[in-house]
Amino acid sequence: MTQPRFHDVHPSLPSWLAVLEQHLAVQFTEERIDLQRATKAVVHTRGKRLRPVLLLLACDVFGEVTARAVRHAAMVELIHTASLVHDDVVDEAETRRGELSARARWGNKFAVLLGDFLFARVFTLATADGDAEVLTTLASTAEEMGRSTILELSGLDLDAEEAIYWEVIRGKTAALFAAATRIGALAGGAALEHQEAMYRFGEAFGLAFQLADDLLDWQGSAFETGKPLAADWQQRRVTLPLLHALRAAAPHEAEQACGLWNRHPFGEDDLTELRRFIADHDGFDAGWRQVEHRLATAEQCLHGLPDTCGRAALQRICTASFPLPVLPAVASPST
Ligand code: IPE
Ligand code: IPE
Ligand code: MG
Ligand code: MG
Repeated sequence: MTQPRFHDVHPSLPSWLAVLEQHLAVQFTEERIDLQRATKAVVHTRGKRLRPVLLLLACDVFGEVTARAVRHAAMVELIHTASLVHDDVVDEAETRRGELSARARWGNKFAVLLGDFLFARVFTLATADGDAEVLTTLASTAEEMGRSTILELSGLDLDAEEAIYWEVIRGKTAALFAAATRIGALAGGAALEHQEAMYRFGEAFGLAFQLADDLLDWQGSAFETGKPLAADWQQRRVTLPLLHALRAAAPHEAEQACGLWNRHPFGEDDLTELRRFIADHDGFDAGWRQVEHRLATAEQCLHGLPDTCGRAALQRICTASFPLPVLPAVASPST
């Protein structure tokens, strides 16, 4: 299976993304210089712009990609950026997109406030834009992201049912993908049933995406992801591969693995042993099968939609393997 490169999936994507970058670049030029610098650092690092890409392609399935659709894509990307700035505080992450995280640069206090500021700015932009449906979708999505990240902290432990894991990733990640593709469909003038199909597409894709991210935390390379490896293990963040292996193992083996997980201080040997435990009990393979299954579900959501370039591009993205490659650098607008 050849890996689709994002800028190749649709001939107009590079120019839409260039407009998106221009639009993002002028959002904070009126701010004090310290806030300008901080927003520039978190908004203009090498993110994949995946949610905007999906929004714009969803729009292209049904109609013309207008400047308004690009503005909506920017709002979605800013929510994503705000959530990452906060996530790195919660996860005590030093790096993001291969560079220092906001909290590593300016400290936790500044990073929390910067994330709040970015969230708030999105709602100012959406209110000014005047589309009540977009505003409501973004607001309920941000609320859901907050609720699910709190559930992750307090309710996703070694005893959790796998259903809790799915609830967490649905809310913290898939909800924003679903909002993006639904807003895109809306901008393209899609009928209600097609908006719903695009919502389900984004949700299924988002579930696959977060589960792949969680698998790659165990199995990937920091070079490819731009994030430290085994960060979830460092933070004792339980994800599906471990939950699956614990359920599949004999009780005494599961108990041993829990002992390893809870050991303090912990070292590389513990990590190696846990990886082996998960691999021996099908945790990784089962996880990747689920990724495939969710991608297939996403692709099915496209059936019956207008046969357009946008739909073909979304179909190609469903054949992606993870980690998704970063986009080629878009000429960074000078601010
Ligand atoms: C990272 O998302 C957060 C997760 C949902 C796993 P992305 O991998 O889309 O982040 P960037 O924007 O490309 O850095
Ligand atoms: C959080 O998940 C993703 C958000 C929705 C903010 P992760 O904690 O796994 O994301 P990364 O791995 O730090 O990007
Ligand atoms: Mg994180
Ligand atoms: Mg992760």
